[in-house]
Amino acid sequence: MHYFEFREGELFAEDVKVRDLVKKYDTPLYIYSSKTFKRHYEAFDSAFDGIDHLTCYSVKANSNLCILKMLSEMGSGMDIVSGGELFRTLKAGVDPSKIVYSGVGKREHEIREALLSDILMFNVESKQELEKINQVAVEMEATARISLRINPDVDPQTHPYISTGLKKNKFGLDIEQAMESYKLAQKLPNIDPVGIDCHIGSQLTSIEPFIEALNRIKSFHAELMDMGIEIKYLDLGGGLGITYNEESPPHPSAFGKAVKENLQGMKLKLILEPGRVIAGNAGILITRVLYTKKSPSKNFIIVDAAMNDLVRPSLYGSFHRIDCVTQKDAPLQKADVVGPICETGDFLAQDREIREVNQDELLAVFSAGAYGFTMSSQYNSRPRGAEVLVDGSNVTLARRREVYFDLVDLEEQCF
Ligand code: LLP
Repeated sequence: MHYFEFREGELFAEDVKVRDLVKKYDTPLYIYSSKTFKRHYEAFDSAFDGIDHLTCYSVKANSNLCILKMLSEMGSGMDIVSGGELFRTLKAGVDPSKIVYSGVGKREHEIREALLSDILMFNVESKQELEKINQVAVEMEATARISLRINPDVDPQTHPYISTGLKKNKFGLDIEQAMESYKLAQKLPNIDPVGIDCHIGSQLTSIEPFIEALNRIKSFHAELMDMGIEIKYLDLGGGLGITYNEESPPHPSAFGKAVKENLQGMKLKLILEPGRVIAGNAGILITRVLYTKKSPSKNFIIVDAAMNDLVRPSLYGSFHRIDCVTQKDAPLQKADVVGPICETGDFLAQDREIREVNQDELLAVFSAGAYGFTMSSQYNSRPRGAEVLVDGSNVTLARRREVYFDLVDLEEQCF
């Protein structure tokens, strides 16, 4: 059963008619389903039942406070990549001892803030970063728990922009450099090397690359143990894919089973950083048809959501299923669904088969719960839309629609 489904020809979000939400909150509108978020979190987390583990939801996928609070109340930890994400997680009441901090460019004040909060650990991506964290920790008379992010040089077979575990990517340290840095970590007074980390990419649709990476880490882990470095945590990152169109990614339970089988004998706490697999299909974006037009070679459906609201199609050529919110019999056509932004790359779909639509009709863009709102902008001075969270028949405004004043507020303060 899906929580975004048609009932008698009308799209519902759980028990609420999408059209009623639009009457109240207008478009563009992000709608999230609590029950889907919860189901996805549980399916993922329970896949690792039987071994010591911590699921750290990757905040960048969808960082709305309501979502963070809901997941945190279910026991989730968080994977953060900035001081801003730390701020959000703390605001949402997340236990800092369940926060891991990844990313290649942590600034000094961000490191200080994370140390002050006493987060679980930093996932460190370079020797210089390691030295910087030590320096800040010395100044604060604190100890920083760290893991080093290994770049295992494994091809995740996904879009090049979201591959991260290849030699040519900016992420992590190759095995040799990582060994040097662990030796350094052992000597640095205010660093406690407690973990090994790796994240090879996003939207992976097969298990093999994960297992390949895990196997490289396993032999590396044995070497670290021989050196007397006691590793307590193994962070395997995120990356499990979802179905946008016709992909058939492994179910989290199959992923969990394979990881557990390959971990045998390792006495470590496993950390996972899923983002998309929890949030992606838990959100939709609703947009209104403004105009339709036919050029000699194309049909265009011009809608009020644009690349500033959902950039994935423009940035990665990603496919998002689009359906009319109200079903009816009408001839099918091939059309580009485009936004009002002055860029040829501003589209939500190209050459898509969709029924003919009228002005003011509503369209639903599916699988928009991850990397949707979090990647939005105000480009073309377009105030961002609202976000609502539905739970059964309850609706919470999770973020109000921006108004024109929000576009200039920070600039007016400078006059
Ligand atoms: N951990 C680290 C260190 C990451 O860099 C990421 C994602 C994750 C976990 C979560 O990965 P997930 O489970 O969501 O695949 N904007 C792109 C995706 C970029 C992913 C960046 N890192 C998109 O819209 O497809």
